[in-house]
Amino acid sequence: MKINLPKTSQLLDNKFIFGVATAAFQIEGGADSRLPCIWDDFCSQPGRIKDGSDGLVACDHIHRWQDDLELIESLHVDAYRFSVAWGRVINADGSINQQGMDFYSQLLDALQAKGIKAFVTLYHWDLPSYLQQQGGWLNRNIVDKFRDYADKVSQAFGDRVYSYATLNEPFCSAYLGYEAGIHAPGVQDRQSGRQVAHHLLLAHGAAMQVLQKNCPTALNGIVVNVSPCYAASASEADKRAAQMADSYHNQWYIQPLLEGSYPDLLQQLPEHERPVIEEGDMALIAQPLDYLGINYYTRTVFEATSQGWFRDVKPTTAPLTEMGWEVFPQGLTEILLSLHQRYALPPVYITENGAAMPDELLQGQVDDPRRVAYFEQHLLAVHAAIEQGVRIGGYFAWSLMDNFEWAEGYLKRFGIVYVDYPTQQRTMKTSGLALQQLFQSKKNKALNPIS
Ligand code: FCB
Repeated sequence: MKINLPKTSQLLDNKFIFGVATAAFQIEGGADSRLPCIWDDFCSQPGRIKDGSDGLVACDHIHRWQDDLELIESLHVDAYRFSVAWGRVINADGSINQQGMDFYSQLLDALQAKGIKAFVTLYHWDLPSYLQQQGGWLNRNIVDKFRDYADKVSQAFGDRVYSYATLNEPFCSAYLGYEAGIHAPGVQDRQSGRQVAHHLLLAHGAAMQVLQKNCPTALNGIVVNVSPCYAASASEADKRAAQMADSYHNQWYIQPLLEGSYPDLLQQLPEHERPVIEEGDMALIAQPLDYLGINYYTRTVFEATSQGWFRDVKPTTAPLTEMGWEVFPQGLTEILLSLHQRYALPPVYITENGAAMPDELLQGQVDDPRRVAYFEQHLLAVHAAIEQGVRIGGYFAWSLMDNFEWAEGYLKRFGIVYVDYPTQQRTMKTSGLALQQLFQSKKNKALNPIS
């Protein structure tokens, strides 16, 4: 199967970056060589993870990274996005864990040797447990801890990193972790969620200052998840609900980052549910960004509640992925355009996009035509946004391989490479082969622009 893009598409330009993405807790395993984190603790609580699994072994990437890197290279990607496990590189007393730092150092050297750009995420949700015991993201001191962590990592990695992201999806850490309680650490409290969001944004700002000082030539920024919010009906109440949801889920993070202010919705919240914001905070959050990372999977539909708030309506009819998420590629073009119209956006990178499908390994093959179609449709959606003026520098498929999908455990497969967990054998899916062909044809075109 082939992914077809218009011949003249800017996605096929030499400068456009194609890559695959992973995150430490989801693939590494090797839990005995790092400190425990909030996701280890969450997994050990009965009922939290659908299949009762954990991240102790995951894809055993810690021991198989060289093979995995060969797999990445075989895809002809320009870049690889991965995250650093905080508790693998920093000890509880704040000193460096040299063995952990060496692991990432070797990875960076190997990527460099293969000519693959490293996109490093500093925080993809695995807060060390000892920091959680001190209050975690609820304790404002976390800002200093994160700044120090960013400083130590960026000094150790030097100029081998092409791009840093301070945080991955602060909305998920704050809302899913502290308000909805379905992610670690599993707290359900509105004010806590908002306070955590504020501390995450502050930590981002503090780390940005460090990154710009230590790595002025790297592309430094942050990754947010966005989902265009639609009204469930044409009623005024539902339209207002969708707008509020957009303010709360999307703009709550993007507006502080780009304009140094929260959406007006904040003023409408009862006083005791607002975050504590100190003088100077908003300026720290709004550090200039070299790029904005956007993760996109689906749209969301909202209806009004009787309390004047909003609630999402689960999709039922449209094509759905295994996550129950609607396949809605035009939402990606729409949200990119609306952000472009509303803000002075820095260059954008699509840092995650992909789908969980009911994959099966049959006679050594995994045929996933629906995932191939998903990628093609979303790449075309990116193409359409570029055509309409949005500056987009790259696209990363989520994910390189099947892995630990948070509260869903290993039940949901997002990889373009299939992982058979009992044997840890990797098998390239049809979607992996299709992306491989696309990435290779882009490289060939760059070498031979006339053809
Ligand atoms: C995103 C996460 C990523 C992965 C995908 C499916 O929210 O950043 O780790 O779980 O969803």
